[in-house]
Amino acid sequence: KKQSQLKEVAGIPLQTATVDNWSQIQNFEAKPDDLLICTYPKAGTTWIQEIVDMIEQDADVEKCQRAVIQHRHPFIEWARPPQPSARNAKDCMVSYYYFQRMNQVLPDPGTWEEYFEAFIDGKVGWGSWFDHVKGWWEKKDRYQVLFLFYEDIKKDPKHEIQKVAQFMGKNLDETVLDKIVQETSFEKMKENPMTNRSTVPKSILDQSISPFMRKGTVGDWKNHFTVAQNEKFDEIYRKKMEGITINFCLEL
Ligand code: A3P
Repeated sequence: KKQSQLKEVAGIPLQTATVDNWSQIQNFEAKPDDLLICTYPKAGTTWIQEIVDMIEQDADVEKCQRAVIQHRHPFIEWARPPQPSARNAKDCMVSYYYFQRMNQVLPDPGTWEEYFEAFIDGKVGWGSWFDHVKGWWEKKDRYQVLFLFYEDIKKDPKHEIQKVAQFMGKNLDETVLDKIVQETSFEKMKENPMTNRSTVPKSILDQSISPFMRKGTVGDWKNHFTVAQNEKFDEIYRKKMEGITINFCLEL
């Protein structure tokens, strides 16, 4: 078993590296033209990062491959304007469970049953999915926020990518747009060493346990949730998300 532990800051369990940089995070000030990507872990962070970079670089693949994705989009909690990306909680939970197994600097997730409870209670790194989604949803009209859904990008990548480009003030022509759709597909990003985290040492991400680019689908939760877990989850979801009118897509 792994020895890694999370530490709580303001009631939110965080990775120790994040805790160490806490003052830097709190003092972060965005510049007017900064674009912040604000995702819950495993909601498709890497995917939207690559899409944004491809839009910025007008689909120039070579420019996008200048560095690995985590250097092109440094994490605010580790390095130094908002675009929350949401994925349905059930698929997020499954993805996070596998990620926590392969990520050697996060605690062991325990059994699936244990993880299910921990996720619902927000006792996982970076806190509660419910708080993240609710928080951004309630603030989305007050700030310049583009709220995106993993499932929508999956369903109609061209349409969603165009939306991101518009938000960024970019007008893309058809060929550029098509190229971005192609290059940011799951298959391409799984093969691409600049996006698939294959350059991260095994002592941090052990891809033999579970690949970083694992499945990239909507509905994998059905292979993990028992009927009882699903009922319990739906009940808790109703309570926690009361007053939030998001209809998460759970299968395509
Ligand atoms: P799965 O574990 O369900 O496969 P993050 O980048 O926030 O850590 O999210 C990782 C999840 O996004 C993983 O989900 C990964 O496979 C998926 N993902 C990454 N790139 C993707 C793409 N181009 N298309 C669809 N899913 C993608």
